[in-house]
Amino acid sequence: MKMDPVRIVEVGPRDGLQNEPEIIPTDVKVAFVDALSGCGFDEIEVSSFVSPKWVPQLADAAEVFRRIARKPGVSYMALVPNEAGLARAAEARPDRIAVFTAASETFNRKNINASIVESIERIGPVVRQSPVPVRGYVSTAFHCPYEGRIQPEAVIPVAQALVDMGCVELSIGDTIGKATPDEVSALLERLIPLVGANRIAMHFHDTFGRATANAERSAALGIRIFDASAGGIGGCPYAPGATGNVATQALVTLFGNRTTIHWAALDRASAIVHPYLGRSTAGPAVG
Ligand code: HMG
Ligand code: MG
Repeated sequence: MKMDPVRIVEVGPRDGLQNEPEIIPTDVKVAFVDALSGCGFDEIEVSSFVSPKWVPQLADAAEVFRRIARKPGVSYMALVPNEAGLARAAEARPDRIAVFTAASETFNRKNINASIVESIERIGPVVRQSPVPVRGYVSTAFHCPYEGRIQPEAVIPVAQALVDMGCVELSIGDTIGKATPDEVSALLERLIPLVGANRIAMHFHDTFGRATANAERSAALGIRIFDASAGGIGGCPYAPGATGNVATQALVTLFGNRTTIHWAALDRASAIVHPYLGRSTAGPAVG
């Protein structure tokens, strides 16, 4: 029986590199994105236009975008927090942008200095003015490092607000990697009828080693889009305890030839950043 294709959105250059204690040289970031462009992804999140005071690791977003070699058929995405970020991103010509908010008040305050309602008001104009399609992230959709378990009731209105303002795709974040497959089911059983499985990406971090089980459960419920980072790098500087995204290698292992990703090219891309991370990365062929 032929299985549906699975899309992996590579978020390593943004979610991966935003949390590294060392600033990675711009040359290395450009080489990393260029190598990822040859791996078979149709979308790569390249960097973010957030305040460099908040995330100095990605202060060179404009230069990275200027210098990467864009491969036809690959969408190069940028994370944008506000209208100032949208203005900075304009010159970089991303193919898509991503806005972000959270289902937890405390995390939102720590991450973007805004309540949930304030963040929705702030990103509304960004979505409406964006010349390119917009993805909307909902962080802490299962657990918050400050508030603990987040119930689906708190996630649904945030997701709905992002769809109502015009986001074409939602990415549902297990920001601190604490979700269980049953918690994933509890949310998706509510969210899929509202939004449609084809518009939902799942964004798992792997702190407790459950990310692939969570991806498997999501796929069983009809989800076909997953975020991952080459080598499992990453985390969120404002979510204590958050480790890396699920490794792209782990999802390629899980989904096999339902994905379009080339193993050898992925390992070569991971190896480009590995020496700069000061620790081991996940994934079978690195570390
Ligand atoms: P603020 O301090 O409340 O904002 O930060 P502000 O408007 O008062 O601005 C403060 C200063 O930053 C001002 O400069 C602004 O001009 C400047 P000053 O007058 O002090 O010289 N500024 C900017 N500069 C460049 N680009 C901008 C920008 N905006 C303001 N876009 C703000 C509010 C949202 C800006 C800040 O909190 C911020 O940038 N936060 C981002 C934090 C972040 O990037 N976190 C990680 C990404 S989210 C994540 O990882 C989760 C995800 O992976 C999914 C998951 O795992 O759940 C997506
Ligand atoms: Mg993340």
